[in-house]
Parts: sequence; structure tokens; C-alpha cells
Amino acid sequence: MSTPSLATRADQGQHFPEWMSAAQAQVEAALSRFLPPSEAIPARLHQAMRYASLNGGKRVRPLLAFAAGELTGAPPERLEAVASAVEMIHVYSLVHDDLPCMDDDVLRRGRPTCHVEYDEPTALLVGDSLQSLAFELIARSPLGDAGRQLEMIRLLSHASGSCGMAGGQAIDLASVGKALNQPELELMHALKTGALIRSAVLLGALCGEPLTTESREALDRFAKRAGLLFQVIDDILDCTASTATLGKTAGKDAAADKPTYVSLMGLERAREFADDLRIQALESLAIFGERGQRLIQLTDFITRRKF
Ligand code: IPE
Ligand code: IPE
Ligand code: MG
Ligand code: MG
Ligand code: MG
Repeated sequence: MSTPSLATRADQGQHFPEWMSAAQAQVEAALSRFLPPSEAIPARLHQAMRYASLNGGKRVRPLLAFAAGELTGAPPERLEAVASAVEMIHVYSLVHDDLPCMDDDVLRRGRPTCHVEYDEPTALLVGDSLQSLAFELIARSPLGDAGRQLEMIRLLSHASGSCGMAGGQAIDLASVGKALNQPELELMHALKTGALIRSAVLLGALCGEPLTTESREALDRFAKRAGLLFQVIDDILDCTASTATLGKTAGKDAAADKPTYVSLMGLERAREFADDLRIQALESLAIFGERGQRLIQLTDFITRRKF
């Protein structure tokens, strides 16, 4: 099949920035509604949860959930719940990732990291609490029948745990100073970042009408490629973008001697690899035709993003 290029889709791209801004605002409002209010006891913990979750971030995972939901005609209120749940897991992973015992970062989303603004025990509990709230949200929201809710909880818990995000973080920490080969690096990235991105896509789609087996498999292939693409670009940006643009400290991977796609293959080949992943991701969407437009645009956004 021929893969549409960025340039030939300018007409469809025109409305993407507006769609993205509206969806980001929708996520912000939903998160604010779902998070406990700042005054609720224990107020300091709830303030820290809101500090870490609100007013920042690209909201790529919620956007992917919304876009996948468009494929299956999912109602907005369901999408808001699952998108917020996935974002809460993501924010929890960032708060813990930044702790001194992990990446020891002081800047996140252009502001002091949660443990710097508050303190380490609070940051630990922010992560714990956001994780619990994510699952509570799926369990208590009207997302269709109970079987579907259970499937969502199963998908998200697997993506978050030792065979998903947390497992990938464990490999990341154990790999400092090591030169991983490509399959090893791909596994680390697929787990620490890819798993949650995949779950965002699948949960979004699950909010609507069932897909055929063929479509579900195509969407899953897309989600896996997009997840790996996302982390390859994160690796590239870590060594090419400035701290001011990223809103987080640049150059951390090389400074901490972490294996990345840039350390494995160099900048130019890492960029080519990202382009290949983009094309593979887009090819997986061919089956959806026009309905896959938002996912196509998001793939391009993930590839071209500057932070
Ligand atoms: C950063 O994720 C951490 C990774 C998994 C690579 P994002 O780049 O999505 O961070 P925010 O949510 O936009 O701040
Ligand atoms: C983070 O990877 C992955 C998770 C938070 C699960 P990184 O450590 O590369 O993320 P950044 O660069 O700090 O955002
Ligand atoms: Mg890390
Ligand atoms: Mg980090
Ligand atoms: Mg990084």
C-alpha cells in the first residue's frame, strides 16, 4: 500500500490543532473533576496529586484514547473516564520516575518535580494514590457492561505492572551503563512506555462498538508501533532538544549512561528507525480508511513533536 505523506495530508491536518486543543481541554476538565478537591483531607496529598496531574503535559495517551474511540463510535463520557484513568497511571509513573531513587529529576512539565515542590514521601503517595484512583474510576464509571469494565481493568493493570510499565522501569534501572542490543532495548521501551500507550488505544476503542477480529488486530499492531515510536522520539529529544523546550532536564540519558536508541544506533539511524516505525504504524491503520484520520494525525504529531 502507499503510505500517505505528511505533505499530502495538509487538508486533513488543518483541523487537527483545533481538535487537539479541544481534546486537551476536555482531559484537563475531566481530570480536575475526577481528582479529589484540594481541600479534602489529607489536603496536602490531594494538592500534590492535582499539582502533578493538572496544567501540563501533552496528554498524548488521552488523545490516543479519544482517537481510537472515534473508530468505534464511543460516547465522550466513557472516553473521558478511560482517558483520565490512563493519564493518571502515566502521571504516577512520571512522579516516581523523577524520584531521587530513580532518574533524580528536578524539572517536569516546566515546573519543579512533585518531590521537589512537596517532598519525597508525598511524591511516593501521589503515585500510589493516582494508581488506585485510575482503577477506581474505571470500576465506578458507566462504561457499558461489567464484562467490558473487567476487560479494561485487566488490560490497564497488565500494562502498568511488572509485565508492563513497572517492569520496563526495572529493566531501565538495571541497564544503566550497559549496552543493550536492539531486541533488549525494544523490550525495555515496549514495556516502560509502549504498554501504557497500547492500553490507551485499546481502552479508547473498547468504549464503543466491538471491532472485528481483523480490525482489532490491526489496531493492536498500530498501538504497539506507536508506543515504541513514542519512546524512540523521547530518546532523540533527550539529546537534541533544550531543557527550556522539553520542560524537563535535557541530556539526562547520556549523563546517566542509559541505553537508548541514540546510544545504540546514533542520532541519524535513530531518526530513520523512527520514520520506519511511523510508516509501519500508518500501514496498520489502512484498514480503517478515513475513520483512522485522527490516529494518523496523532502518529505524525508523535513523530514531529518538539517536546
Ligand atoms: C514522558 O512522557 C515519559 C515517557 C514515557 C517517555 P510524555 O512525553 O508523554 O510526557 P508529558 O505527559 O507530555 O509530560
Ligand atoms: C520514562 O522514561 C518512562 C516512564 C515514566 C514509565 P524516561 O525516564 O525516559 O522519561 P523522561 O524522559 O524522564 O520523561
Ligand atoms: Mg526513566
Ligand atoms: Mg526520566
Ligand atoms: Mg526520556
